[in-house]
Amino acid sequence: MIFNSVNKVVLSVSLLSGLLWQASAATISDRSAFVDSLIGCMTLEEKLGQLNLPAGHDIVTGNVQNGDTKEMIRRGQVGGVFNIKGVGKVKELQRIAVEESRLGIPLLVGADVIHGYETIFPIPLALSCSWDTTLVENVARISAIEAAAGGVNWTFSPMVDIAHDARWGRIAEGNGEDPYLGSLMAKAYVRGYQGGALDNPENIMACVKHFACYGATESGRDYNVVDMSRWNMFNAYFAPYKAAVDAGVGSLMPSFNIIDGVPATGNRWLLTDVLRNRWGFKGLIVTDYYSIGEMNALGIGPRRTGAVLALRAGVDMDMVSHAYLERLKGALEDGEVTMDMIDNAVRRILNAKVSLGLFEDPYSRCDVSDASSGKLFSAEHRKVARDVAAKTFVLMKNDNSLLPLKKNAKIALVGPMAHARNQMAGTWSFTSSTKDRHRSVLDGLRDAATDSNLIVYAQGCNIYFDEKKQNAVCKGLIPRGDDKAMLADALAAAADADVIVACLGESADMSGESACRTDLNMPDAQKQLLEAMVATGKPVVLLLFGGRPVSLCWEKEYVPAILNVWYGGSEAGDAIADVLYGDKAPQGRLTTTFPRTVGQMPLYYNHLPTSRPDPEDDVFNLYQSNWIDERTSPLYPFGYGLTYTTFSYDPVKLSSDKMPKGGAIEATVKVTNTGKRGGTEVVQLYLRDRYASFCRPVQELKHFSRVTLKPGESRDVTFLLTEEDLKFYNADLEYVYEPGEFQLMIGPDCQRVETLTFTAE
Ligand code: BGC
Repeated sequence: MIFNSVNKVVLSVSLLSGLLWQASAATISDRSAFVDSLIGCMTLEEKLGQLNLPAGHDIVTGNVQNGDTKEMIRRGQVGGVFNIKGVGKVKELQRIAVEESRLGIPLLVGADVIHGYETIFPIPLALSCSWDTTLVENVARISAIEAAAGGVNWTFSPMVDIAHDARWGRIAEGNGEDPYLGSLMAKAYVRGYQGGALDNPENIMACVKHFACYGATESGRDYNVVDMSRWNMFNAYFAPYKAAVDAGVGSLMPSFNIIDGVPATGNRWLLTDVLRNRWGFKGLIVTDYYSIGEMNALGIGPRRTGAVLALRAGVDMDMVSHAYLERLKGALEDGEVTMDMIDNAVRRILNAKVSLGLFEDPYSRCDVSDASSGKLFSAEHRKVARDVAAKTFVLMKNDNSLLPLKKNAKIALVGPMAHARNQMAGTWSFTSSTKDRHRSVLDGLRDAATDSNLIVYAQGCNIYFDEKKQNAVCKGLIPRGDDKAMLADALAAAADADVIVACLGESADMSGESACRTDLNMPDAQKQLLEAMVATGKPVVLLLFGGRPVSLCWEKEYVPAILNVWYGGSEAGDAIADVLYGDKAPQGRLTTTFPRTVGQMPLYYNHLPTSRPDPEDDVFNLYQSNWIDERTSPLYPFGYGLTYTTFSYDPVKLSSDKMPKGGAIEATVKVTNTGKRGGTEVVQLYLRDRYASFCRPVQELKHFSRVTLKPGESRDVTFLLTEEDLKFYNADLEYVYEPGEFQLMIGPDCQRVETLTFTAE
């Protein structure tokens, strides 16, 4: 298709030759000539318009909503829109941009496609528990195909913020606490969304966020202060963002928080020195929601000051605040910013549009035909979602092999999540229009059991006793009932059952943005139900729903089986049935540490050493780094997870206990499936740099391998270690390798490891 706006440009600018923009696979130099020519014919107002990303109208994630978007697009005051649902609506906005604005520049169409578009996959934290990058890439791929069918060409994902504090609701959106695993996942998302070439209409541009260190927010409270050494940023928190950049991510979103005293959105060191100059990021930077405006609350100044700071820092696009649109003109006149700075930002936005193929065909992702909508929530995509969900469930406990259940067992299915269709998708799933149709655990079990009458359902309790508290997190989506009557129903259901399955935990809105908690225990009303179910003496399976690590001390002691199903997405109900009945085995391993109590927060395995490590976990030792009233160890460690079989590990063999300079060593361990059914193990390798010029963490994941073994089958798992695995950032933030003694640990989680020592020369 010949792009008519460029015809307009051609008419007005002799510099532009039709060939430049007609080429479907233009060379880089052609593209830059095209973009430069286009910039050359833009008024200042049109340039500032390109930098403007007004609030979407279907979903807002802050307090601000912008006015008449259509009219603004017509006036050339909009570079992109976001969170607009429906390809028809998008097409209309794109049409206005292309056909009714002076230059006809197409729009970026963004959306928070975080774990699926119509077909919803498990929440990202759950996906990370698969330890399977191919699976995550496929999830992102399907999300891209569906989002593109919905008119979207840009997703605000992946969110790769490392998090150590389960109080923070947004821990649900990331990959947990590990930089290495988080980096692999970051790359997988970028590959999946962006595919090979961005101009393929089934690919969308990814946006890595929130740069940087948002997950380290103090006291786990959203939008709160972050204060961190640069050393920690480089050695831990930066890794996944850098991985996304290395994978070619097209865009990046700075975080709401302050970095080194300066808001990330206006932080030149962060966005230009580190991101652009050191890491070579060439893509576009878009602010988070109203971040420029929020620099006022952060004590930097009103919107004009924020706009100047952001532009000078390297931010290209202003989400929602309109500060670029309304304030940069004055700042330019007063010499606070230059036309070059504005042009550079415009260039990066136009480059993104060129890369997406929007100048060749602005409607390439606006197909309103049935063929296109048929891609949404398709049987094929739902099947993948069902398989994926089962791979993210983490079996925490399974006494006497209570799970899997027999399909002819009489089950009392209780709990507010047992038949809560609209809750299955979890946080950040507003793009799904099918939520009320998602199948519940009750639906899944009834279809899978030998007789649907074997499943007797009772909601059993409210989320919280307190109605206001419940409404704040459920928005009326989970019915409320009389506490006593509900409990009586559950007890009646249990009386006649062989086994009780209790579906409890967090409702979908209890994790995600603006969903932080100070209490990580099971909500009161649900705890009472669980206690009552355990008191019946019948075997109880806890199906734990949630978006964060929680405290499960009582549950670990008294409930015989615990399966953490997170938020499994649109197919969770059937995926849960698959795993409960043993058609599939749980495969997830924790990527965040589960605490004993909220008082242990922040809690993570790869911490720095303390000078007084607690010598015994179960007794209190004076003058050691511990608590009087709680153990120091977690309840469940990073990497932990059971399945329906067991594995044994032979002693680890090292090819040498010396790694020569520039050389490598191999670590090999034989793993055997010692159970009666097939299963998948995640073999994990950790390192500790014993002595270094800088204090190094007590453990760091460096490699892992997923191995699937038949009953009785053994396999040698070999890891190759090179100097690269031993490197870290020193005081001068140089990436260095220091010879010396290293401990190597291999095992099924970060605690149950065999430790060997080698020397790097
Ligand atoms: C969130 C971002 C999100 C944006 C747009 C913000 O509140 O922090 O993660 O992409 O809203 O919806």
